[in-house]
Amino acid sequence: MEVNAIRAEAFKHRRYRTDEWDWRALVEVYSLGWVTGRRFGELVGFVNVPWDGFVHAWIQDVIVASAQRNHGIGTKLVGTATTHVREAGCEWLHVDFDRGLEPFYVDACGFTQVTAGLISLV
Ligand SMILES: CC(C)(COP(=O)(O)OP(=O)(O)OC[C@H]1O[C@@H](n2cnc3c(N)ncnc32)[C@H](O)[C@@H]1OP(=O)(O)O)[C@@H](O)C(=O)NCCC(=O)NCCS
Repeated sequence: MEVNAIRAEAFKHRRYRTDEWDWRALVEVYSLGWVTGRRFGELVGFVNVPWDGFVHAWIQDVIVASAQRNHGIGTKLVGTATTHVREAGCEWLHVDFDRGLEPFYVDACGFTQVTAGLISLV
């Protein structure tokens, strides 16, 4: 699937086959929704929005194809997701991100920085 192609490019891993990582099946079961960006029919952006079914939703896997970055697509994807999460009645939208991405998530997308926890399971 197309998401596996832009995800492999963005996170520098091999391109998984659909029978290994089936994004459509995944998001249809676990996500409140997802947002795609297309240019001339080609997938150039994606964000997954998993949720708890009621109050909390999460921004996961914000990806913009490298050739299309720095044109506002990422901000637009997250903004569209935010609007729909609010309309769905959720109270909180979460994201976690590596150091250095503050200009994107905080300044451009409007997230507030909070403390969070993480356990590596690998
Ligand atoms: C992060 C990412 C989604 C941003 O998408 P984008 O379409 O290029 O973002 P935008 O054009 O909307 O950027 C808006 C602002 O965010 C900031 N920004 C964008 N990418 C950034 C990055 N990689 N690091 C830090 N700040 C960034 C800039 O300030 C930018 O404003 P400017 O264009 O005026 O300089 C894209 O770089 C990407 O796919 N990266 C690889 C995957 C990834 O790391 N995703 C996040 C996982 S937590």
